[in-house]
Amino acid sequence: MAFPRHRPRRLRSTPAMRRLVAQTTLEPRHLVLPMFVADGIDEPREIASMPGVCQHTRDSLRRAAADAVSAGVGGLMLFGVPKNEDKDAYGSAGTDPDGILNVALRDLDADLGDATVLMADTCLDEFTDHGHCGVVDERGRVDNDTTNRRYVELAVSQADSGAHVVGPSGMMDGQVAAIRDGLDAAGHTDTAILAYAAKFASGFYGPFRDAVDSSLQGDRRTYQQEPGNAREALHEVRLDLDEGADMVMVKPAMAYLDVLRAAADISPVPVAAYQVSGEYSMISAAAANGWIDGPTVALETLTGIRRAGANIVLTYWAADVAGWLT
Ligand code: PBG
Repeated sequence: MAFPRHRPRRLRSTPAMRRLVAQTTLEPRHLVLPMFVADGIDEPREIASMPGVCQHTRDSLRRAAADAVSAGVGGLMLFGVPKNEDKDAYGSAGTDPDGILNVALRDLDADLGDATVLMADTCLDEFTDHGHCGVVDERGRVDNDTTNRRYVELAVSQADSGAHVVGPSGMMDGQVAAIRDGLDAAGHTDTAILAYAAKFASGFYGPFRDAVDSSLQGDRRTYQQEPGNAREALHEVRLDLDEGADMVMVKPAMAYLDVLRAAADISPVPVAAYQVSGEYSMISAAAANGWIDGPTVALETLTGIRRAGANIVLTYWAADVAGWLT
């Protein structure tokens, strides 16, 4: 035996000893809070499948964002929910400067400025009437390059509205390079790109589709990855790095910790992981039934995601955790 005299329990004997030897940290600054802002509602609306998370009005968003920032979260990731009648085939409401997401970005930029890192989801699915993340051709396929041109317009409108970071989440090939070129040409050389680099076609996005009133019929398997493909996920990460990604993300988190570890091992830039809606809802539902302790399990999963290599974790618990940790 290699260490015959060693008794590991000595280093577990008191809370102070355990704190001294802790190997993974979880701090509020590591966490990004995803938030939803909806057009045409007067009151915040709780999302049935995500207890504790709501679609905000512009005003309630401002208050909740300020609270999360004072609690110490590292950043905010904003999703817009347009009125149903404003959805169309191209997702025009996403690039409209007066569309809900751009207006809300300007609100938060005015309130918070550089006190937080303001991020925006750079994708069309919230804004299209067919619910796909891109532009659909006459045969019903999502057209890669037409979609990238729309992503450039989205990213530029988000940067114009105050986003520090744009987050292309549609898994089009070449989306990072297209957006980098477009941002630079528009003078937004300082706007960073958080690339959803390895995003899997996942059942864990179910509650999110409620959260954004998604119109999707069918699935996203022609653009999101197959859950079993780890080698391909690393290829996606390398492509995004090559195209100029400032941060790369793996999504979902808990079922893909091996992919996260592998991405963390090769990435020269910060690696993020998204603990998605279904991960949140699953734990919340079990906790509501009294089957597990919610905060204990939430912290354990977030610690595990950090241990697997995430520098940054997007989680719907971000503001709560910031409160629990301080
Ligand atoms: C696409 C997008 C999705 C999520 C974030 N960005 C949904 C999808 O790909 O269907 C899911 C986030 C979550 O489930 O919490 N704009």
